[in-house]
Amino acid sequence: MTPIIGQLAGHTYAFSEGSDATAPPLLLLHGTGGNEHDLIPLASRLAPGSPLLSPRGNVNESGSNRFFRRFGEGVFDLNDVRDRTAALAEFIAAASLHHHFRAGSLIALGFSNGANIAATLLQLHPTALGGAILLRPMVVLDEPAAADSLTGKRVLIASGNHDPLVTADHPVRLAAHLQSGGAKVTLHTSTAGHGLVSADIESAQAFLNS
Ligand code: MLT
Repeated sequence: MTPIIGQLAGHTYAFSEGSDATAPPLLLLHGTGGNEHDLIPLASRLAPGSPLLSPRGNVNESGSNRFFRRFGEGVFDLNDVRDRTAALAEFIAAASLHHHFRAGSLIALGFSNGANIAATLLQLHPTALGGAILLRPMVVLDEPAAADSLTGKRVLIASGNHDPLVTADHPVRLAAHLQSGGAKVTLHTSTAGHGLVSADIESAQAFLNS
């Protein structure tokens, strides 16, 4: 099904209605340099029938779309992170009304920069998501989620053991921050770098099916 392209709350986004009203809606968050189309093939494979909501990151870094500003690789503008995370939560609220999602039902599927903003959404705006699949995330906000703010939510953190951008301590620290809020976190490590491999897809599929 060809997605429609829309504009809501300052975000351009793609939306695909899906064919299964009982399937969980997914929020797709692309990596640096990507766009709203990138994760649609993967999401359609992982969750056929699910409605897909896919905003484009509205920070332009030398022509590359991102979800928040950075000063260099892994050095983040934390004020911008907070502002853009709040703006994305507003987009989610507007899109949920417009497309009739139950509030808090969206499962984020984010890669790299998109996984990072999904994590900051969980930390700062926990009611925005029902859970998340974080592909190659790192710790951006080095602070625990508020106690009980993530109770009942499931999160998959999928890392690569040769990732040159994400050192091995990050997935564990991020998991601890989300567990502080009560999230049930699954850690999965593939023999991989920053790019995704088939083991990542299998772990995402198992997570969604369970
Ligand atoms: C990226 O290149 O996107 C980084 O690894 C993650 C980020 O900057 O958020």
